[in-house]
Amino acid sequence: MTYETEYKALVADRQDDGEVSLSVQTRDTRDLPKHDVLIRVDYSSLNYKDALSASGNRGVTSSYPHTPGIDASGVVKKSRDPRFSEGDEVIVTSYDLGQNTPGGFGRYISVPGDWVVPLPPGLSMKDSMILGTAGFTAAYGIKKIVESGISPDDGEIVVTGATGGVGSLSVRLLSHLGYSVAAVTGKKEKRDFLKTLGAELILERGDITEVPGKPLLSARWPGAIDTVGGAMLDAVLRQTAHNGAVACCGNILGGKLQTSIYPFILRGISLLGVDSGNCLMKDRKEIWNLLASSWHPGSDSLSDMSRQRRLSDVPDEIDAMLTGNQHGRVVIALRD
Ligand SMILES: NC(=O)c1ccc[n+]([C@@H]2O[C@H](COP(=O)([O-])OP(=O)(O)OC[C@H]3O[C@@H](n4cnc5c(N)ncnc54)[C@H](OP(=O)(O)O)[C@@H]3O)[C@@H](O)[C@H]2O)c1
Repeated sequence: MTYETEYKALVADRQDDGEVSLSVQTRDTRDLPKHDVLIRVDYSSLNYKDALSASGNRGVTSSYPHTPGIDASGVVKKSRDPRFSEGDEVIVTSYDLGQNTPGGFGRYISVPGDWVVPLPPGLSMKDSMILGTAGFTAAYGIKKIVESGISPDDGEIVVTGATGGVGSLSVRLLSHLGYSVAAVTGKKEKRDFLKTLGAELILERGDITEVPGKPLLSARWPGAIDTVGGAMLDAVLRQTAHNGAVACCGNILGGKLQTSIYPFILRGISLLGVDSGNCLMKDRKEIWNLLASSWHPGSDSLSDMSRQRRLSDVPDEIDAMLTGNQHGRVVIALRD
């Protein structure tokens, strides 16, 4: 099988004045890192980390010019790793892809074999990227809630940042699995979108956070997926029922959590950390297999909650994400 040496990529470059510019450029596969698996990317997707990388966040990407994109699905074009052959359809999400390794916003990526997941039967390359890291993270958090023993009969699961990538897929997957969902959003105009995803109750952010400062408040839900962190996570913990569980994955409100120990020692609540980036390959494959089978919410439903864009559209989508104006998922088509 042959492949082009030249390819298109969205490149973020830091100017002398510190500003970051984004442009679609022609790159050469011979300049990619010398890893074992060369993949021609068909689809990628937009995640919050991409918006940070594309806007010059040194905590995510230390050196520029750089091609962001923490997600990619595509076809193996060359492999020195015996586990993969030319023509295999594969997914790569997280690890260092798109952070300091050229990412999925380019038609080609070169990655270590240990980062590569065979595309499971039942999942199309496009659907795998509508899900992407956001869907993987949502599924990982939900799996932890399910494993903590919380069932649909226990009551509504609250999802914060509900219109975002992880949030919207958490709402969709929980609803698909039979859970009632209370979606917390700052976007009143997206009520219908959240209802379509399966949310039964829609709450404004202030309904959760504008509460008395007491260490424990009336129990409102048995479990939560929190994508926001900070004061939102503290408020969620204080309103979680006895033996409840809160999966925490996001830091939209910053990296600090100020709370008390009482939700943990007086209500036995579990705070479940979700790290999709370094998830073990055994667990990674299990989660992708679930998403390809019984947890697959349906291609039509995934299509309805996403918008397909080309590389040249991505800068506007990144601006929307950084200004809090995104909803659902942006899938990026790299194939011609
Ligand atoms: N741990 C992991 O493995 C992992 C994986 C993926 C993502 N993440 C993290 O999860 C978070 C969400 O990622 P994403 O890709 O879903 O981002 P996203 O699509 O930008 O969604 C974030 C959502 O947060 C809500 N939000 C924004 N500003 C807020 C504010 N000031 N107060 C309260 N809510 C606010 C908004 O939803 P509403 O308008 O509906 O409220 C927004 O849509 C990020 O911090 C990301 O880094 C972590």
